[in-house]
Amino acid sequence: MNLTKQQILAEMGLSPLWELRHKAPVQPNAPDDAQAVPAPLSPSSALAASTVTAAAAPGPAPVLDLSWEPLATSVTACRACRLCEQRQQAVFGVGDRAASWLFIGEGPGADEDAQGEPFVGVAGQLLDAMLAALDLSRRADVYIANAVKCRPPGNRTPEASEIAACRPYLERQIALLQPKIIVLLGRAAVHAVLGKDDTLSSLRGKTFAYRAGERDIPVVVTYHPAYLLRTLSDKAKAWEDLCRARALMRAAKQEAALAI
Ligand code: URA
Ligand code: SF4
Repeated sequence: MNLTKQQILAEMGLSPLWELRHKAPVQPNAPDDAQAVPAPLSPSSALAASTVTAAAAPGPAPVLDLSWEPLATSVTACRACRLCEQRQQAVFGVGDRAASWLFIGEGPGADEDAQGEPFVGVAGQLLDAMLAALDLSRRADVYIANAVKCRPPGNRTPEASEIAACRPYLERQIALLQPKIIVLLGRAAVHAVLGKDDTLSSLRGKTFAYRAGERDIPVVVTYHPAYLLRTLSDKAKAWEDLCRARALMRAAKQEAALAI
C-alpha cells in the first residue's frame, strides 16, 4: 500500500488541521513544525534518570553492560515478574538500532505476543500512519519499544511493580540507542521513563529530559494510539505533539552539526 501524504493525514483524521494550519494563530506552546522554537528542557525533570536507576530493584539480572544481542536474549529468558507466566514470547523491540527517534508504548497485546514485534495490531497501524505523516517508518531512523516486554493478561494495564521489574531493560535499550528524542505513548511509558503518574493532558506540551550518561535526551509525551482510536477528537493534539517532537529533533540535529 502506497498512501499519499494527504491520505495518511486523512487516515489520522488530520486533513482539516493540515488545511487550516497556516491560517491558525501560532500557539506559543504549540509550535508549528516549520517555525518551531523548542521549549527548553524542564530542569525539574533532569533528575528522572537517577530516579529510574534508584527504583530499578528488584529487577532482572544486571543488564547494565550488555550489548544488543545479549540484552535481547536476556529479555527472551526473563522471569523477573509474573508477566512471564502467560506470555507466548517476550517482545523486545523493533527498528533501527542507530535510530534518532525512540517511541515507547505500554506493553504487548495479543497480536504482539503472537508475532514478537511491538505495535503490529490496530494501534500499530495508527502508529505507522503517525510515523508516515512525519516521513518516518518503523524500519528507518525509528526504534519502538514498550514499558513492559511481556503481555499483561487480558491487556490490563501493567502494574507499577511490573514496570519497575522491566525498567532496566528499557534503560539499557535507551543507553545503547542514544536517541535524539524519546516520544512516550501513554501513561505506562511516562511512568517507566519519567517516574510520573500525572494525567497525560497535564504532561503534553512540555519537554522533559532523560539523563543518559553525559546527555539529556528530550522527552515528549503524547497519547497512546489505542486511546486515539477511541477518542478521535484528540488525534489533532497528538499531531501537534509529534510536530513539536520533530522541531526538537531538527534543533538537536542543527546543534550537533554546529558542534562539528
Ligand atoms: N500497545 C502498546 O503499548 N504496545 C504494543 O506493542 C502494542 C500495543
Ligand atoms: Fe521480565 Fe519484563 Fe517480561 Fe517481567 S515483563 S518477565 S521483567 S521481560
